[in-house]
Amino acid sequence: MDIFRIEGPVRLSGTVRINGSKNASLPIMAATILAAGKSIIKAVPHLSDISVCSELLGQLGCKLNREPNGDLCIDTTVVDNPVGDYEIVRKMRASICILGPLLARCGRAEVSMPGGCAIGYRPVNLHLKGLQELGAQIHLKNGYIVVEAPNGLKGREIFMGGPFGSTVLGTANVLMAATLARGRTVIESAACEPEITDLANCLNKMGARVSGIGSPRLVIEGVKQLRPVEYQVIPDRIEAGTFMVAAAITKSELRLRNCRLNDMMAVVDKLRNVGVTVEPEDTGCVIAGISPIKPADITTQPYPGFPTDLQAQFMALLALAEGNSIIIEKVFPDRFMHVAELSRMAADLRKEGSAVIIAGVKKLIAAPVMASDLRASAALVLAGLAAEGTTTINRVYHIDRGYEKIEERLDPVGAKITRESD
Ligand code: EPU
Repeated sequence: MDIFRIEGPVRLSGTVRINGSKNASLPIMAATILAAGKSIIKAVPHLSDISVCSELLGQLGCKLNREPNGDLCIDTTVVDNPVGDYEIVRKMRASICILGPLLARCGRAEVSMPGGCAIGYRPVNLHLKGLQELGAQIHLKNGYIVVEAPNGLKGREIFMGGPFGSTVLGTANVLMAATLARGRTVIESAACEPEITDLANCLNKMGARVSGIGSPRLVIEGVKQLRPVEYQVIPDRIEAGTFMVAAAITKSELRLRNCRLNDMMAVVDKLRNVGVTVEPEDTGCVIAGISPIKPADITTQPYPGFPTDLQAQFMALLALAEGNSIIIEKVFPDRFMHVAELSRMAADLRKEGSAVIIAGVKKLIAAPVMASDLRASAALVLAGLAAEGTTTINRVYHIDRGYEKIEERLDPVGAKITRESD
Protein backbone atom coordinates (compact mmCIF):
# COMPACT_ATOMS: atom_id res chain seq x y z
CA MET A 1 0.00 0.00 0.00
CA ASP A 2 1.35 3.40 -0.99
CA ILE A 3 1.83 6.30 1.37
CA PHE A 4 2.19 10.04 0.72
CA ARG A 5 4.78 12.26 2.35
CA ILE A 6 3.73 15.88 2.13
CA GLU A 7 6.07 18.75 3.04
CA GLY A 8 4.33 21.87 4.20
CA PRO A 9 3.55 24.64 4.21
CA VAL A 10 3.88 25.44 0.51
CA ARG A 11 2.78 28.20 -1.84
CA LEU A 12 1.30 27.04 -5.13
CA SER A 13 1.30 28.85 -8.44
CA GLY A 14 0.56 27.87 -12.01
CA THR A 15 -2.12 26.04 -13.98
CA VAL A 16 -3.93 22.77 -13.37
CA ARG A 17 -6.13 21.13 -16.00
CA ILE A 18 -9.26 19.48 -14.61
CA ASN A 19 -9.94 15.93 -15.79
CA GLY A 20 -13.19 14.34 -16.91
CA SER A 21 -15.70 13.59 -14.19
CA LYS A 22 -15.52 10.24 -12.40
CA ASN A 23 -19.14 10.38 -11.31
CA ALA A 24 -20.33 11.27 -14.81
CA SER A 25 -18.15 8.57 -16.42
CA LEU A 26 -19.41 5.67 -14.30
CA PRO A 27 -23.14 5.84 -15.20
CA ILE A 28 -22.29 6.75 -18.82
CA MET A 29 -20.11 3.64 -19.06
CA ALA A 30 -23.08 1.65 -17.71
CA ALA A 31 -25.40 3.34 -20.24
CA THR A 32 -23.42 1.87 -23.14
CA ILE A 33 -24.95 -1.50 -22.17
CA LEU A 34 -28.29 -0.19 -23.48
CA ALA A 35 -27.17 -0.27 -27.14
CA ALA A 36 -25.35 -3.22 -28.73
CA GLY A 37 -22.19 -2.13 -30.55
CA LYS A 38 -19.10 0.03 -30.09
CA SER A 39 -19.36 3.25 -28.09
CA ILE A 40 -16.51 5.69 -27.60
CA ILE A 41 -16.40 7.70 -24.40
CA LYS A 42 -13.96 10.59 -24.27
CA ALA A 43 -12.29 12.26 -21.26
CA VAL A 44 -12.84 9.28 -18.95
CA PRO A 45 -10.22 9.77 -16.21
CA HIS A 46 -7.59 7.13 -15.38
CA LEU A 47 -8.79 6.18 -11.91
CA SER A 48 -9.04 2.96 -9.99
CA ASP A 49 -12.86 3.29 -9.83
CA ILE A 50 -12.90 3.45 -13.63
CA SER A 51 -10.74 0.30 -13.78
CA VAL A 52 -13.18 -1.46 -11.45
CA CYS A 53 -16.11 -0.39 -13.65
CA SER A 54 -14.23 -1.62 -16.73
CA GLU A 55 -13.62 -4.98 -15.06
CA LEU A 56 -17.32 -5.17 -14.19
CA LEU A 57 -18.43 -4.47 -17.78
CA GLY A 58 -15.85 -7.02 -18.95
CA GLN A 59 -17.45 -9.69 -16.74
CA LEU A 60 -20.83 -8.95 -18.32
CA GLY A 61 -19.36 -9.82 -21.72
CA CYS A 62 -18.36 -6.35 -22.99
CA LYS A 63 -14.93 -5.66 -24.51
CA LEU A 64 -13.12 -2.52 -23.39
CA ASN A 65 -9.95 -0.85 -24.49
CA ARG A 66 -8.23 2.49 -24.18
CA GLU A 67 -7.28 4.00 -27.52
CA PRO A 68 -3.81 5.63 -27.74
CA ASN A 69 -5.57 9.05 -27.62
CA GLY A 70 -7.14 8.14 -24.27
CA ASP A 71 -10.67 7.45 -25.54
CA LEU A 72 -12.41 4.56 -23.85
CA CYS A 73 -13.88 2.16 -26.41
CA ILE A 74 -16.67 -0.10 -25.06
CA ASP A 75 -17.98 -2.86 -27.31
CA THR A 76 -21.29 -4.08 -25.91
CA THR A 77 -22.17 -6.36 -28.83
CA VAL A 78 -22.23 -9.26 -26.36
CA VAL A 79 -23.78 -8.92 -22.89
CA ASP A 80 -24.37 -12.54 -21.94
CA ASN A 81 -23.67 -12.60 -18.21
CA PRO A 82 -25.92 -10.02 -16.50
CA VAL A 83 -24.34 -10.48 -13.08
CA GLY A 84 -22.63 -7.83 -10.90
CA ASP A 85 -20.28 -9.94 -8.83
CA TYR A 86 -19.86 -9.40 -5.07
CA GLU A 87 -16.07 -9.20 -5.45
CA ILE A 88 -16.45 -6.14 -7.67
CA VAL A 89 -19.43 -4.45 -6.01
CA ARG A 90 -17.71 -4.60 -2.63
CA LYS A 91 -14.82 -2.60 -4.13
CA MET A 92 -17.09 0.04 -5.63
CA ARG A 93 -20.71 0.73 -4.67
CA ALA A 94 -21.33 2.65 -7.88
CA SER A 95 -21.39 -0.78 -9.59
CA ILE A 96 -25.10 -0.71 -8.70
CA CYS A 97 -25.68 1.55 -11.71
CA ILE A 98 -25.52 -1.43 -14.10
CA LEU A 99 -28.80 -2.69 -12.63
CA GLY A 100 -31.15 -0.47 -14.71
CA PRO A 101 -29.36 -0.86 -18.07
CA LEU A 102 -28.92 -4.63 -17.66
CA LEU A 103 -32.59 -5.05 -16.81
CA ALA A 104 -33.62 -3.02 -19.85
CA ARG A 105 -31.26 -4.85 -22.21
CA CYS A 106 -31.45 -8.44 -20.92
CA GLY A 107 -34.80 -8.52 -19.08
CA ARG A 108 -32.94 -9.75 -16.04
CA ALA A 109 -29.99 -8.83 -13.80
CA GLU A 110 -28.35 -9.97 -10.61
CA VAL A 111 -26.19 -7.49 -8.77
CA SER A 112 -24.62 -7.97 -5.38
CA MET A 113 -26.36 -5.84 -2.74
CA PRO A 114 -23.84 -3.14 -1.73
CA GLY A 115 -22.67 -3.54 1.86
CA GLY A 116 -21.22 -1.16 4.46
CA CYS A 117 -19.51 2.05 3.49
CA ALA A 118 -17.06 4.39 5.21
CA ILE A 119 -19.33 7.38 4.63
CA GLY A 120 -22.31 5.78 6.39
CA TYR A 121 -25.41 3.71 5.70
CA ARG A 122 -26.25 3.85 1.99
CA PRO A 123 -29.44 1.96 1.15
CA VAL A 124 -30.59 1.28 -2.43
CA ASN A 125 -34.32 1.10 -1.64
CA LEU A 126 -35.16 4.00 -3.98
CA HIS A 127 -33.35 2.35 -6.93
CA LEU A 128 -35.42 -0.78 -6.34
CA LYS A 129 -38.69 1.10 -5.82
CA GLY A 130 -38.22 2.90 -9.13
CA LEU A 131 -37.43 -0.27 -11.08
CA GLN A 132 -40.32 -2.08 -9.43
CA GLU A 133 -42.70 0.69 -10.48
CA LEU A 134 -41.49 0.19 -14.06
CA GLY A 135 -42.74 -3.39 -13.74
CA ALA A 136 -39.66 -5.32 -12.55
CA GLN A 137 -40.01 -8.25 -10.16
CA ILE A 138 -37.36 -7.99 -7.46
CA HIS A 139 -36.10 -10.41 -4.84
CA LEU A 140 -32.95 -10.98 -2.82
CA LYS A 141 -30.96 -14.20 -3.26
CA ASN A 142 -27.78 -14.94 -1.27
CA GLY A 143 -26.88 -11.27 -0.98
CA TYR A 144 -27.74 -10.56 -4.61
CA ILE A 145 -30.54 -8.31 -5.87
CA VAL A 146 -32.34 -10.22 -8.62
CA VAL A 147 -34.46 -8.03 -10.94
CA GLU A 148 -36.56 -9.52 -13.71
CA ALA A 149 -38.85 -8.13 -16.40
CA PRO A 150 -39.21 -10.90 -18.99
CA ASN A 151 -41.99 -9.01 -20.77
CA GLY A 152 -40.20 -5.66 -20.73
CA LEU A 153 -40.74 -2.51 -18.67
CA LYS A 154 -43.69 -0.14 -18.77
CA GLY A 155 -43.41 3.61 -18.21
CA ARG A 156 -45.29 5.39 -15.43
CA GLU A 157 -45.02 8.29 -12.97
CA ILE A 158 -42.49 7.59 -10.24
CA PHE A 159 -41.65 9.68 -7.18
CA MET A 160 -37.96 9.20 -6.35
CA GLY A 161 -37.47 11.44 -3.29
CA GLY A 162 -36.18 9.94 -0.05
CA PRO A 163 -35.43 11.14 3.48
CA PHE A 164 -32.25 12.85 2.27
CA GLY A 165 -33.70 14.25 -0.93
CA SER A 166 -33.08 12.86 -4.38
CA THR A 167 -30.72 10.00 -5.21
CA VAL A 168 -28.07 10.42 -7.89
CA LEU A 169 -27.41 6.82 -8.91
CA GLY A 170 -31.03 5.84 -8.16
CA THR A 171 -32.14 8.46 -10.70
CA ALA A 172 -29.48 7.18 -13.12
CA ASN A 173 -30.71 3.59 -12.82
CA VAL A 174 -34.39 4.37 -13.33
CA LEU A 175 -33.67 6.89 -16.11
CA MET A 176 -31.57 4.36 -18.02
CA ALA A 177 -34.15 1.59 -17.61
CA ALA A 178 -36.99 3.92 -18.68
CA THR A 179 -35.35 4.81 -22.01
CA LEU A 180 -36.33 1.35 -23.35
CA ALA A 181 -39.63 1.00 -21.45
CA ARG A 182 -42.97 1.06 -23.29
CA GLY A 183 -44.62 4.47 -23.06
CA ARG A 184 -43.85 7.53 -20.95
CA THR A 185 -42.03 7.59 -17.61
CA VAL A 186 -41.99 10.63 -15.37
CA ILE A 187 -39.33 10.72 -12.64
CA GLU A 188 -40.44 13.24 -10.04
CA SER A 189 -37.84 14.45 -7.48
CA ALA A 190 -35.09 13.33 -9.86
CA ALA A 191 -31.52 14.25 -8.95
CA CYS A 192 -30.44 17.45 -10.76
CA GLU A 193 -26.67 16.91 -10.42
CA PRO A 194 -24.64 17.87 -13.52
CA GLU A 195 -23.60 14.21 -13.77
CA ILE A 196 -27.29 13.24 -14.29
CA THR A 197 -27.63 15.99 -16.89
CA ASP A 198 -24.56 14.58 -18.64
CA LEU A 199 -26.01 11.06 -18.56
CA ALA A 200 -29.35 12.29 -19.96
CA ASN A 201 -27.56 14.19 -22.75
CA CYS A 202 -25.57 11.07 -23.58
CA LEU A 203 -28.75 8.95 -23.62
CA ASN A 204 -30.41 11.42 -26.00
CA LYS A 205 -27.38 11.19 -28.27
CA MET A 206 -27.95 7.42 -28.23
CA GLY A 207 -31.52 8.00 -29.48
CA ALA A 208 -33.40 8.24 -26.18
CA ARG A 209 -36.15 10.82 -25.68
CA VAL A 210 -35.48 12.47 -22.33
CA SER A 211 -36.78 15.96 -21.54
CA GLY A 212 -36.78 18.11 -18.42
CA ILE A 213 -33.02 17.56 -18.25
CA GLY A 214 -31.45 19.40 -15.30
CA SER A 215 -34.83 19.72 -13.53
CA PRO A 216 -36.33 17.52 -10.79
CA ARG A 217 -38.97 16.25 -13.26
CA LEU A 218 -37.51 14.06 -15.97
CA VAL A 219 -39.87 12.88 -18.71
CA ILE A 220 -38.78 9.88 -20.74
CA GLU A 221 -40.64 8.66 -23.82
CA GLY A 222 -39.57 5.04 -24.25
CA VAL A 223 -38.00 4.01 -27.57
CA LYS A 224 -37.56 0.54 -29.11
CA GLN A 225 -33.79 0.68 -29.28
CA LEU A 226 -30.77 2.89 -28.75
CA ARG A 227 -27.60 3.18 -30.79
CA PRO A 228 -23.93 3.25 -29.72
CA VAL A 229 -22.53 6.68 -29.07
CA GLU A 230 -19.43 8.84 -29.18
CA TYR A 231 -19.61 11.14 -26.17
CA GLN A 232 -17.33 13.36 -24.08
CA VAL A 233 -17.94 13.51 -20.34
CA ILE A 234 -18.03 16.82 -18.45
CA PRO A 235 -15.12 18.09 -16.33
CA ASP A 236 -15.02 16.90 -12.73
CA ARG A 237 -16.55 19.62 -10.53
CA ILE A 238 -15.38 17.88 -7.35
CA GLU A 239 -11.80 17.67 -8.56
CA ALA A 240 -12.05 21.35 -9.52
CA GLY A 241 -13.43 22.23 -6.08
CA THR A 242 -10.61 20.29 -4.41
CA PHE A 243 -7.96 22.23 -6.37
CA MET A 244 -9.76 25.48 -5.55
CA VAL A 245 -9.41 24.65 -1.87
CA ALA A 246 -5.74 23.77 -2.49
CA ALA A 247 -5.22 27.37 -3.66
CA ALA A 248 -7.30 28.79 -0.81
CA ILE A 249 -5.67 26.79 1.99
CA THR A 250 -2.13 27.65 0.83
CA LYS A 251 -3.05 31.33 0.20
CA SER A 252 -1.91 30.88 -3.36
CA GLU A 253 -3.03 31.69 -6.87
CA LEU A 254 -3.96 28.83 -9.22
CA ARG A 255 -5.45 28.89 -12.69
CA LEU A 256 -7.84 26.02 -13.44
CA ARG A 257 -8.46 24.98 -17.03
CA ASN A 258 -11.39 22.84 -18.22
CA CYS A 259 -13.56 23.83 -15.28
CA ARG A 260 -17.25 24.73 -15.48
CA LEU A 261 -18.07 27.31 -12.83
CA ASN A 262 -21.77 27.08 -13.72
CA ASP A 263 -21.80 23.60 -12.17
CA MET A 264 -20.24 24.97 -8.99
CA MET A 265 -22.19 28.06 -7.95
CA ALA A 266 -22.68 26.97 -4.32
CA VAL A 267 -18.95 26.23 -4.00
CA VAL A 268 -17.84 29.48 -5.63
CA ASP A 269 -20.27 31.38 -3.40
CA LYS A 270 -18.74 29.86 -0.24
CA LEU A 271 -15.21 30.54 -1.45
CA ARG A 272 -16.06 34.18 -2.11
CA ASN A 273 -17.78 34.44 1.31
CA VAL A 274 -14.59 33.34 3.06
CA GLY A 275 -12.58 35.92 1.11
CA VAL A 276 -11.15 33.84 -1.74
CA THR A 277 -11.16 35.47 -5.18
CA VAL A 278 -12.65 33.42 -8.01
CA GLU A 279 -12.24 35.06 -11.41
CA PRO A 280 -14.01 33.33 -14.30
CA GLU A 281 -12.07 32.85 -17.56
CA ASP A 282 -13.11 31.39 -20.91
CA THR A 283 -12.42 27.75 -20.07
CA GLY A 284 -11.90 27.92 -16.33
CA CYS A 285 -11.00 30.38 -13.62
CA VAL A 286 -8.27 31.88 -11.46
CA ILE A 287 -8.43 31.29 -7.70
CA ALA A 288 -6.53 33.50 -5.27
CA GLY A 289 -6.40 32.70 -1.57
CA ILE A 290 -5.92 35.29 1.16
CA SER A 291 -4.92 35.25 4.79
CA PRO A 292 -6.72 34.95 7.13
CA ILE A 293 -9.85 33.41 5.67
CA LYS A 294 -13.23 34.21 7.19
CA PRO A 295 -15.36 31.58 8.93
CA ALA A 296 -18.41 30.11 7.18
CA ASP A 297 -21.62 28.23 7.70
CA ILE A 298 -22.03 25.33 5.26
CA THR A 299 -24.90 22.88 4.85
CA THR A 300 -24.49 20.10 2.32
CA GLN A 301 -27.48 19.44 0.09
CA PRO A 302 -28.34 17.79 -3.21
CA TYR A 303 -27.45 19.90 -6.26
CA PRO A 304 -27.61 22.88 -6.70
CA GLY A 305 -26.78 23.01 -2.96
CA PHE A 306 -23.28 22.65 -1.55
CA PRO A 307 -21.95 19.16 -2.49
CA THR A 308 -21.26 16.59 0.21
CA ASP A 309 -18.25 15.52 -1.89
CA LEU A 310 -16.50 18.80 -0.96
CA GLN A 311 -17.52 18.87 2.71
CA ALA A 312 -14.29 17.33 4.05
CA GLN A 313 -12.07 19.58 1.90
CA PHE A 314 -13.85 22.71 3.16
CA MET A 315 -13.49 21.48 6.72
CA ALA A 316 -9.71 21.45 6.24
CA LEU A 317 -9.90 25.01 4.92
CA LEU A 318 -12.18 26.32 7.67
CA ALA A 319 -9.89 24.77 10.29
CA LEU A 320 -7.61 27.73 9.49
CA ALA A 321 -10.32 30.42 9.46
CA GLU A 322 -10.28 33.37 11.84
CA GLY A 323 -13.28 32.45 14.01
CA ASN A 324 -15.87 29.69 14.37
CA SER A 325 -17.47 27.86 11.46
CA ILE A 326 -20.14 25.17 11.28
CA ILE A 327 -20.66 22.42 8.73
CA ILE A 328 -23.93 20.50 8.68
CA GLU A 329 -24.04 17.29 6.64
CA LYS A 330 -27.54 16.71 5.24
CA VAL A 331 -26.76 14.16 2.53
CA PHE A 332 -24.66 11.57 4.39
CA PRO A 333 -25.13 12.48 8.10
CA ASP A 334 -22.25 10.20 9.20
CA ARG A 335 -19.69 11.32 6.63
CA PHE A 336 -17.12 12.54 9.16
CA MET A 337 -14.22 10.06 9.07
CA HIS A 338 -11.86 12.99 8.49
CA VAL A 339 -12.73 14.73 11.77
CA ALA A 340 -10.51 12.54 13.92
CA GLU A 341 -7.62 12.67 11.43
CA LEU A 342 -7.77 16.46 10.96
CA SER A 343 -7.83 16.75 14.76
CA ARG A 344 -4.51 14.87 14.80
CA MET A 345 -3.16 17.76 12.73
CA ALA A 346 -4.25 20.26 15.42
CA ALA A 347 -7.60 21.26 13.91
CA ASP A 348 -10.07 22.23 16.64
CA LEU A 349 -13.24 20.32 15.74
CA ARG A 350 -16.30 19.31 17.73
CA LYS A 351 -18.80 16.90 16.24
CA GLU A 352 -22.42 17.30 17.33
CA GLY A 353 -24.64 14.75 15.58
CA SER A 354 -24.50 15.52 11.87
CA ALA A 355 -22.77 18.86 12.43
CA VAL A 356 -19.18 19.85 13.14
CA ILE A 357 -18.22 23.07 14.86
CA ILE A 358 -14.83 24.29 13.73
CA ALA A 359 -12.87 26.71 15.89
CA GLY A 360 -10.27 28.20 13.57
CA VAL A 361 -6.63 27.72 14.59
CA LYS A 362 -3.57 29.75 13.53
CA LYS A 363 -1.79 26.74 12.05
CA LEU A 364 -2.11 23.05 11.33
CA ILE A 365 0.74 20.75 12.38
CA ALA A 366 1.91 17.79 10.31
CA ALA A 367 1.18 14.29 11.61
CA PRO A 368 0.90 10.72 10.39
CA VAL A 369 -2.75 10.26 9.34
CA MET A 370 -4.92 7.60 7.74
CA ALA A 371 -6.94 7.97 4.55
CA SER A 372 -10.39 6.49 5.10
CA ASP A 373 -12.58 7.36 2.13
CA LEU A 374 -11.97 9.26 -1.05
CA ARG A 375 -12.98 12.81 -0.10
CA ALA A 376 -11.79 12.52 3.52
CA SER A 377 -8.38 11.60 2.10
CA ALA A 378 -8.38 14.59 -0.23
CA ALA A 379 -8.99 16.79 2.81
CA LEU A 380 -5.88 15.32 4.46
CA VAL A 381 -3.78 16.10 1.37
CA LEU A 382 -5.02 19.70 1.49
CA ALA A 383 -4.32 19.96 5.21
CA GLY A 384 -0.84 18.54 4.56
CA LEU A 385 -0.09 21.27 2.01
CA ALA A 386 -0.79 23.92 4.66
CA ALA A 387 0.53 22.19 7.79
CA GLU A 388 3.98 22.77 9.25
CA GLY A 389 6.24 19.74 8.79
CA THR A 390 5.93 16.39 7.06
CA THR A 391 2.49 14.81 6.94
CA THR A 392 2.35 11.13 6.05
CA ILE A 393 -0.90 9.73 4.70
CA ASN A 394 -1.42 5.99 4.78
CA ARG A 395 -3.74 4.03 2.48
CA VAL A 396 -3.61 6.50 -0.40
CA TYR A 397 -5.43 3.99 -2.59
CA HIS A 398 -8.54 5.79 -1.37
CA ILE A 399 -7.31 8.97 -3.07
CA ASP A 400 -6.43 7.09 -6.27
CA ARG A 401 -10.09 6.08 -6.58
CA GLY A 402 -11.06 9.63 -7.49
CA TYR A 403 -7.96 11.76 -8.18
CA GLU A 404 -5.65 10.82 -11.02
CA LYS A 405 -2.04 10.97 -9.72
CA ILE A 406 -2.81 13.94 -7.51
CA GLU A 407 0.86 14.22 -6.49
CA GLU A 408 1.97 14.55 -10.14
CA ARG A 409 -0.77 17.08 -10.86
CA LEU A 410 0.21 19.28 -7.91
CA ASP A 411 3.99 18.90 -8.31
CA PRO A 412 4.35 21.36 -11.23
CA VAL A 413 2.48 24.03 -9.26
CA GLY A 414 4.76 23.74 -6.24
CA ALA A 415 3.46 20.98 -3.97
CA LYS A 416 5.99 18.65 -2.36
CA ILE A 417 4.24 15.28 -2.27
CA THR A 418 6.12 12.03 -2.69
CA ARG A 419 4.53 8.63 -3.10
CA GLU A 420 6.28 5.71 -1.44
CA SER A 421 5.44 2.04 -1.32
CA ASP A 422 4.81 0.98 2.24
N1 EPU B 1 -30.49 7.12 -0.37
C1 EPU B 1 -31.57 6.43 0.11
N2 EPU B 1 -32.06 5.40 -0.65
C2 EPU B 1 -31.53 5.08 -1.86
C3 EPU B 1 -30.43 5.80 -2.35
C4 EPU B 1 -29.93 6.82 -1.58
O1 EPU B 1 -32.08 6.71 1.18
O2 EPU B 1 -32.03 4.14 -2.49
C5 EPU B 1 -29.92 8.21 0.43
C6 EPU B 1 -28.43 8.00 0.75
O3 EPU B 1 -28.27 7.17 1.89
C7 EPU B 1 -27.98 9.41 0.98
C8 EPU B 1 -28.80 10.19 -0.04
O4 EPU B 1 -29.91 9.37 -0.36
O5 EPU B 1 -28.33 9.84 2.28
C9 EPU B 1 -28.06 10.56 -1.32
O6 EPU B 1 -27.43 9.40 -1.85
P1 EPU B 1 -27.25 9.18 -3.42
O7 EPU B 1 -28.04 7.98 -3.82
O8 EPU B 1 -27.54 10.45 -4.14
O9 EPU B 1 -25.72 8.82 -3.53
P2 EPU B 1 -25.06 7.90 -4.65
O10 EPU B 1 -25.82 8.07 -5.90
O11 EPU B 1 -24.87 6.53 -4.13
C10 EPU B 1 -23.44 9.67 -5.65
C11 EPU B 1 -21.96 9.86 -5.80
C12 EPU B 1 -21.35 10.13 -4.44
C13 EPU B 1 -21.98 11.40 -3.88
C14 EPU B 1 -23.50 11.22 -3.80
C15 EPU B 1 -24.23 12.46 -3.35
C16 EPU B 1 -21.36 8.50 -7.71
C17 EPU B 1 -20.63 7.32 -8.22
N3 EPU B 1 -21.37 8.66 -6.38
O12 EPU B 1 -23.64 8.56 -4.79
O13 EPU B 1 -19.96 10.39 -4.69
O14 EPU B 1 -21.48 11.66 -2.59
O15 EPU B 1 -24.02 10.87 -5.09
O16 EPU B 1 -23.95 13.53 -4.16
O17 EPU B 1 -21.88 9.30 -8.45
C18 EPU B 1 -17.67 10.39 -4.19
O18 EPU B 1 -17.43 10.65 -5.39
O19 EPU B 1 -16.77 10.47 -3.31
C19 EPU B 1 -19.00 9.98 -3.78
C20 EPU B 1 -19.25 9.33 -2.65
